[in-house]
Amino acid sequence: MEKSILIIGACGQIGTELTMALRDTYGNESVIASDIREGNENLMDSGPFEILDATDYDALEEIVAYYEITEIYLMAAMLSATAEKFPMRAWNLNMNSLFNVLNLAKEKKIDKIFWPSSIAVFGPNTPKENTLQSTIMEPSTVYGISKQSGERWCDYYFHKFGVDVRSIRYPGLISWKTMPGGGTTDYAVEIYHKALSEKAYTCFLKEDTELPMMFMDDAIKATLQLMETDADNVKVRSSYNLSAMNFTPSQMAESIQNHIPDFKISYEPDFRQAIADSWPSSIDDQEARRDWGWKAEFDLEKTTKEMLENLAP
Ligand SMILES: NC(=O)c1ccc[n+]([C@@H]2O[C@H](COP(=O)([O-])OP(=O)(O)OC[C@H]3O[C@@H](n4cnc5c(N)ncnc54)[C@H](O)[C@@H]3O)[C@@H](O)[C@H]2O)c1
Repeated sequence: MEKSILIIGACGQIGTELTMALRDTYGNESVIASDIREGNENLMDSGPFEILDATDYDALEEIVAYYEITEIYLMAAMLSATAEKFPMRAWNLNMNSLFNVLNLAKEKKIDKIFWPSSIAVFGPNTPKENTLQSTIMEPSTVYGISKQSGERWCDYYFHKFGVDVRSIRYPGLISWKTMPGGGTTDYAVEIYHKALSEKAYTCFLKEDTELPMMFMDDAIKATLQLMETDADNVKVRSSYNLSAMNFTPSQMAESIQNHIPDFKISYEPDFRQAIADSWPSSIDDQEARRDWGWKAEFDLEKTTKEMLENLAP
């Protein structure tokens, strides 16, 4: 049977690039984008689009039947910094949207699911360096609690009902096509915009806060790779650790100064510092390497070059 893919939350930072990559791979008409708002011109013009609220099961079921959807990528969520401001809204969106999709698969209305988790599943008691796939978790943020619960439910639906759900714990993602949507690692995108427009940036994290990060092309490549691999290879049914690079705001500033020597950074940490402090500084991703051949391509230098080239006026 032919693939028919639905992306929910397609107009966000990841969804926009994921939709275009899936359309390139499987054909424009086989990839249906959906969101509660319209996306950029490229996305809207390149294939089918539907307004869809991920928490509305009936509307979702109708779209799945209409387009004979076989796979869903669920990208709608409230991210870490925003979720601290609206805890119950975040919980409702992040959990109910996941249950809706898991239940569709349980009822055999779709074959396969991609649902992203995050390094936010880890907490202050987790060993910070080279954090293992299975370790102490105990997340201390609203967002992290929802992601960890989501992981447990994915694993449960796989074992109990045979649902083919696959997931990655994305680190902070850096991209130039779409702005980030309210996360704790957003500084690593904003900094490039400000470096080009003002040659100065005030960072909301401290200079030595080291976090795991990834360039968007690597994240999209990993997502497609995991979804294409044989089901037997997918040994982790909660969510895979995934790693590319780790750096601090001051190291990122240095990499920008290699291109823009008079760029200046200053630091005014806000509530997001506590969130960042609860997360690992580096991630061990040996399972993803072993099970489906994961390897990152972008380090900090390559990312900076790519960001500055593409954002330059
Ligand atoms: N961007 C990152 O650095 C990062 C890191 C780790 C995990 N993730 C996860 O990846 C996924 C996508 O993240 P993103 O950065 O693209 O987020 P984003 O905020 O940029 O995009 C989310 C999209 O979901 C849409 N949306 C919100 N409520 C909706 C609803 N009720 N129904 C349908 N759509 C709705 C929004 O309009 C938005 O377009 C999320 O699950 C996020 O937790 C992202």
